[in-house]
Amino acid sequence: MSYSIPKGVFDIFPTENKPEDQWKEAHHWQHVLEVMRRLSSEYGFEEIVTPIFEKTELFTRSIGEGTDIVSKEMYTFLDKGKRSLTLRPEGTAPVVRAFLDRKLYNESYCNKLFYLGPMFRYERQQAGRYRQFHQYGAEVLGVSSPEQDVEIIDLLCTLFQNLGIQNLTIHLNSIGNKECRKSYREALVAYLTPHKEKLSPESQNRLEVNPLRILDSKNKDDQKILDGSPSILDYLEEDSKEHFEEVQKWLRIFKIPFKVNPRLVRGLDYYNKTVFEVVCGDLGAQDTLAAGGRYDSLTQDLGGPELPAIGFAMGIERVLQVMHAQKCSFKPRPVPQILLIPLGEPSKEVCFELLKQLRLHNIPSEMDFSLKKLKHIMKYADKKKVTYVSVIGEDELLNEEIKLKHMITGKEETIPLDQLILTLVNKVQHGT
Ligand code: HAM
Repeated sequence: MSYSIPKGVFDIFPTENKPEDQWKEAHHWQHVLEVMRRLSSEYGFEEIVTPIFEKTELFTRSIGEGTDIVSKEMYTFLDKGKRSLTLRPEGTAPVVRAFLDRKLYNESYCNKLFYLGPMFRYERQQAGRYRQFHQYGAEVLGVSSPEQDVEIIDLLCTLFQNLGIQNLTIHLNSIGNKECRKSYREALVAYLTPHKEKLSPESQNRLEVNPLRILDSKNKDDQKILDGSPSILDYLEEDSKEHFEEVQKWLRIFKIPFKVNPRLVRGLDYYNKTVFEVVCGDLGAQDTLAAGGRYDSLTQDLGGPELPAIGFAMGIERVLQVMHAQKCSFKPRPVPQILLIPLGEPSKEVCFELLKQLRLHNIPSEMDFSLKKLKHIMKYADKKKVTYVSVIGEDELLNEEIKLKHMITGKEETIPLDQLILTLVNKVQHGT
């Protein structure tokens, strides 16, 4: 029996030794999540938290039976009541399900939602691809205008700017409505069928099940064949065409650079019109940091009223990996301002009281309970990067004076015991 961690998942620790694992450090995660929460709120988005598992049919209906996610990657199980449940592979379908369940469409001010949390896909293990990964996502329900598409893309760009990430390309496409996708699909199959034997086995299989996904193939021979393939943009009907032009016009007005990529199709069936992906040159093969698009018929497909919608999701692991690769800065790791070290029983009581007061004044503080030798406690303080330590023993109690030792400079100052809180409040305020 082995208790090692399962394949494709990872732990997040307070600290990591190996440089390649540093993106897993907890305070780096906190930094990124804080920026995401702050910016979402500045853009008027409110947080929604949905369950980790849902009924399986929610995902089969929304993501689509023929997709890789549904056909190969879902963690599906029967519960003890023989109900088929699935660990959520993505956040859009659950958000829409919750939105419809709660009839949030009746509360017109509540249609911009964001979420943060783990998703699960049984994927082949490789760098940047995990079986439990985390997404930050944002969804707007009930708005059909192209300007909304641009606001969503702008949120993404501002977020990357706020995190300090560079070297990004936004790939943009329109996949139109169901009818034009059907005509395009026929044209693509007609073009690819004579080349079938030369396609990779995966693409040959896709030709039957989901031919549009062949456009995504990374296989060099497939790509050569695809070079001569028809473009979906030539199949767009008037409404989608106009929408796509408006999106591009507003992106230019917002000064957001983008690249039209007619081969961009998405791996989930619910999209129509605008689709996009943000790719970073500093990631390996899994270079997509975020992706999204319009899904105007999903609410109806899930039994709700007609509500056009758009959103995106971002892989938090990949964001952290890029931030490390690009040496982006993180907020400093939080450190205790003071460590109180009691020597002897009577000073324990005094230290406890001081600790309570310090915490009431929001001063990050700790007290030593380890009963280890002073040398070990000082080593702990050093490692933890505590700013001050104060050893409080019989003499200090008798004289009602304590020494504050600054751990970096080594300087000691003596202060009256009853001035400790005030002194530290001042020091925190002045950052000393
Ligand atoms: P997605 O393209 O499947 O879209 O995932 C979005 C992002 O999640 C990817 O670009 C990637 O950064 C990250 N991601 C996906 N799978 C993994 C994995 N196995 N390991 C690490 N990161 C991963 C969606 O999920 C849609 N729900 C996006 C959306 C929201 N569309 C509209 N609204």
